Amino acid sequence: MAQPDFSPSAERNKQPILDVLLHHLPAQGKALEVASGTGQHVQWFAKHMPQWMWQPTEVHRGALYNIEVRVADAGLENVLEALQLDVCTEPWFDTAAQNTEQFDAMVCINMLHIAPWVACGALMRGAARHLKPSALLVTYGPYFENGVTPTPSNLEFDESLRAHDPTWGIRQREAVEQEAVKAGMRLRERHAMPSNNLLLVWERASA
Ligand SMILES: C[S@@+](CC[C@H](N)C(=O)[O-])C[C@H]1O[C@@H](n2cnc3c(N)ncnc32)[C@H](O)[C@@H]1O
Repeated sequence: MAQPDFSPSAERNKQPILDVLLHHLPAQGKALEVASGTGQHVQWFAKHMPQWMWQPTEVHRGALYNIEVRVADAGLENVLEALQLDVCTEPWFDTAAQNTEQFDAMVCINMLHIAPWVACGALMRGAARHLKPSALLVTYGPYFENGVTPTPSNLEFDESLRAHDPTWGIRQREAVEQEAVKAGMRLRERHAMPSNNLLLVWERASA
């Protein structure tokens, strides 16, 4: 069987992200991960948050294999079969068939800068639609912010992203907030994270 893909950055950031999740999330619930990638995060979170049921998703059908192999190798029983999800294809789920109507938390790591800008509004609308009233969306990644001088490494990263795909690029945190507000979400907390990343905690505006 082929080895699943491996992401060094996921390996580095999974524990710092888990620390914040443990601080913000209740003791148990059902979480949706958007853009699960290699599955390293969902494996780590499921292992260390055993009272939570995890629903991984990926836009690329081929990547679902990574997640399935990792979860099976770890013998985790609190991870559901990975679903294919393109945040830009709305509505996200056949909710009746997939029992995916409402979640207690949603996590989306390092997607917003590696997807077209329209994915940002789509993510926020999906969160507003699929989160329970007081549930949280957590996004993680590099952001630019008004009044904060960008680090040379983030500027260089942004340039390389745009050269690879002009629709990609590090997002302005305030612009993400505007998309959130349009969708009925709002920023609740901002955490500075290692390597010039931010972890943003979002809630439904009606919470
Ligand atoms: C840099 S990877 C991050 C993967 C993983 N979350 C991590 O941090 O290791 C970016 C991810 O965004 C996903 N992605 C890009 N466009 C997407 C879309 N429209 N809907 C859902 N996921 C998308 C890609 O498939 C990929 O898994």
